[in-house]
Amino acid sequence: MDIIKINDTSNKLYYIGGIVRDFLLNRESLDIDITYAGNAIEYCARFGDVLQINPDFGTIKVLVDGREVDFASTRTEKYEKKGHLPQVDRLGVSLKEDVLRRDFTINALAMSVSTGEIVDYTGGVEDLNNGILRVLHDRSFIDDPTRIIRGLKFAMRFGFDLDEHTKNLQDEYLANINYDMSYARVKKELIETFGYSGKMARGLQWAYDRFINDGIYRLVTPDEVENPSVNIENLIMDYPVEHQWLVFAGTLRDLSRLPLTRTEQKIVDDVPACGLSGDFEIYKAFEHVRTESILLYGILYDEYTARRYLDVLKHIKITVNGEDLKELGFPPSQEYSKCFDFVLKEKLKNPYITRDDELILVKKYYSE
Ligand code: CTP
Repeated sequence: MDIIKINDTSNKLYYIGGIVRDFLLNRESLDIDITYAGNAIEYCARFGDVLQINPDFGTIKVLVDGREVDFASTRTEKYEKKGHLPQVDRLGVSLKEDVLRRDFTINALAMSVSTGEIVDYTGGVEDLNNGILRVLHDRSFIDDPTRIIRGLKFAMRFGFDLDEHTKNLQDEYLANINYDMSYARVKKELIETFGYSGKMARGLQWAYDRFINDGIYRLVTPDEVENPSVNIENLIMDYPVEHQWLVFAGTLRDLSRLPLTRTEQKIVDDVPACGLSGDFEIYKAFEHVRTESILLYGILYDEYTARRYLDVLKHIKITVNGEDLKELGFPPSQEYSKCFDFVLKEKLKNPYITRDDELILVKKYYSE
């Protein structure tokens, strides 16, 4: 854990959640979450410049030693609408009450800022040592189904497994999904799982296989989805893309529930809806689309074609342009694009033709 100097002797201030888990696992943690068993807004402003205060959540962001630290008042929560963001119930509760609202025992650990003592009310240390993901109560996934994807994320990152009872609760939920849930949160967890590029014990393909074979994908769509035979992780390694998570999630086809950005929606819409044949047809279909759409085509229809485009066809470009045609005395018209296609077809057959050969082809096109 990154050391940040916080001089505090109250023994009411605790590192909480992922940072304690990552510290015990000897992994780097990005967020510094600290909880105060009381009113954090009143108490924690003393640690540095206050950047942000959210009275409804009892949270305060403070710049401590140049680092942004999130201090939260201990709280209980209630899920008035299952599957949606919980409401704050009571602020300034005991540490134990705060811890019991959390997802897995390994995320329910606290560490005193004053003494470094680990506070473990739920058996999180033992589960951490045994590589077990265990929910704190039987309604955990009903309250918050995104925890199922979180479980997958942690299983992939740490190489952990769900304990048997937790797996049964997951299966029960997946057999009775309430589709009225926050899909912004579902999307966030999908990105954190399939968009991950940090150190992980198991690979992205492992996570994808679990996602499909265990039926976790059903949180996103009720449609039946089969596991495609393509190794998506290998494809991603060969062709790194910005929206990596979407190359996995896009295989579900129905992403209508997820709040996609315009770019993400375009990636999904640009996947050709049927098989392509012949280099020219492939070239024209992929010429102006993002690599993500091409990879999705490769996974859903034909890996060879996607790879052929990305490895070979994509690099073939004709050099003649409108200026050349004008200089040759052909007036600008719709014929231009037909002429370019004519040259392109020939160049796809023989990529080594020269610029002079291309100009000869242009003349040939106009003479016919
Ligand atoms: N939490 C939860 N249920 C959720 C999301 C979060 O109980 N659906 C709790 C967990 O105790 C978690 C903490 O809130 O440790 C912080 O959540 P978050 O920052 O999303 O996760 P981290 O555990 O910090 O993991 P990461 O390394 O992915 O940031």
